[in-house]
Amino acid sequence: MSDIKSEPLPSTYRALMCSGVGEPLTIQTLPIPDAVPGSVIVRILASSVHTGIEQMLAGKVAGLSIPTPFVPGTRAIGRVAIAGPDTTSLEVGQLVLLEPFIRGRDDPNVQFLWGFGVFGTNPKALKLMEGTWRDGLFAEYARAPLENCFALDERLLLGSPAAGGLGYSVADLTLLSTHVVAYGGFRGIDLKAGETVIVAPATGVFSGAAVEVASALGARVLAVGRNIEALQEIAARNARVSIVQLKGNVEEDLASLKKFGPIDAYLDISPHSASDSTHIRTCLMAVKPYGRVSLMGTVAKDIAIPYVVAMLNNLTIRGQYMYERDDVRGIIKLAEAGVLKLGKEAGHRIEGRFPLEEWEKAFEVAAQNPRVGKSVIFTL
Ligand SMILES: NC(=O)c1ccc[n+]([C@@H]2O[C@H](COP(=O)([O-])OP(=O)(O)OC[C@H]3O[C@@H](n4cnc5c(N)ncnc54)[C@H](OP(=O)(O)O)[C@@H]3O)[C@@H](O)[C@H]2O)c1
Repeated sequence: MSDIKSEPLPSTYRALMCSGVGEPLTIQTLPIPDAVPGSVIVRILASSVHTGIEQMLAGKVAGLSIPTPFVPGTRAIGRVAIAGPDTTSLEVGQLVLLEPFIRGRDDPNVQFLWGFGVFGTNPKALKLMEGTWRDGLFAEYARAPLENCFALDERLLLGSPAAGGLGYSVADLTLLSTHVVAYGGFRGIDLKAGETVIVAPATGVFSGAAVEVASALGARVLAVGRNIEALQEIAARNARVSIVQLKGNVEEDLASLKKFGPIDAYLDISPHSASDSTHIRTCLMAVKPYGRVSLMGTVAKDIAIPYVVAMLNNLTIRGQYMYERDDVRGIIKLAEAGVLKLGKEAGHRIEGRFPLEEWEKAFEVAAQNPRVGKSVIFTL
C-alpha cells in the first residue's frame, strides 16, 4: 500500500456520478474538494456496494428522495488525505471507517443517509443532503463530516496474526458499518450477555449481521426465518445460535419458539416483502414479561399488535432508526477486541472486487448476494 503522507495530492479524482433517477451512471473527473471546517478529505480504499443499489438508483425505494446529480455510495474504508482546519484527532494517513448516518449539527433530529438519500420529505433534511455532504463514497476521494469518520487501529485490524494482529483485509472492514445498525438496535433495548434474543428475519444482509452482533454480545440467539438452508448456514458460523423455521401458523410457530424457554428480547428487521408475514405477531407474543422489542424493519403495512399481551406482559416496544455515534465506536471496539469476527474466520467472503468502470457488473453481483458477509467492493 502506498504511503499517502509522501504522495503528492492530485488536483482531481474520479467518481461514479448519478445524474438523474433511472439514468445510467457515468465516471466523472472532479476537483478534489476543500476540507471545509468540520470535515476531512478521505482517500477511499474500499467502498461497499449495497445489494439494493440498483433499486435505489432506479427510484424504487419507497419514500426515498435522492439528491441528483450526486455520487452514490454509503460505506467505505479509507485514509485521511487532508485533515480539516478543526480536526483534533485525525491525522493524514489515518485509516478510517466512513459510515452514512449524517445528522444536522444544530439539530440531530434532521437526518439523512450519505450517498443514499433521505426518507421522507422533511425540507430541513433535504437541505442538509443537498449541500456540503451531497456526494457519497463511490469515488477515489470524499469530503467526510468529522462525525462520520472513525479512526481504526490499523496495526491490530490489518496486522498479521503472527504480529498480534487480526489479519483482516481493508475490504473485510467495510462490514463494520453494516453491523453497527443491529448494534444500535440491541443497545436501544439494552441486550445483555446471557439473554435470549429472537432475531427475525435472520438471513438478509442487515438481519444476518444482527445474528452475528447478538452472538458477539454474548446473547443466546434464536435466528428465526422461513428458509431452513439459509438458517442452517447462519447457525453453522455463529456460536450460541439456534434456528427456528416458522411456517406461518401463529399458534404452531409460537409453540416452536416457546420450546426455547423465556425469551428476553426480540429484534425485528423485516423488509417490505414481509409486510404480510405473521412472524412479527408470533415473535411479539413469544417475548417474556418485561421483555423488550426493537422494530428496525421497513414493513409497509401496519401490523396487528397483540395489545393485551403487550399490556399484561409489560412489554417495551421500541422503534429504532439507525444508531448513535457512540454505537459506531462500540462496534469498532468489539471488532478490535477480536470478539466480533470479520472475514474468512466469520464465514464472510468478498464476492467481487471491481473498479468504478465495472459498476454494472458490481451491482449485478451485489444483487445476486443478498446475505450477510457476501460483500461486493469497489477497490479504488
Ligand atoms: N432501522 C434501520 O435503521 C435500518 C437500517 C438498515 C436496514 N433497514 C431495513 O432492514 C430491512 C432488512 O434488510 P436486509 O438487508 O437484512 O434484508 P432484505 O434483503 O431487505 O430482506 C431479506 C430478508 O427478509 C426475509 N424475507 C423476505 N421476504 C419475507 C417474507 N415475505 N416473510 C418473511 N421473511 C421474509 C428473507 O428471508 P428468507 O431467507 O426466508 O428469504 C431475508 O432474511 C430492510 O427492509 C431495510 O430497509 C433498517
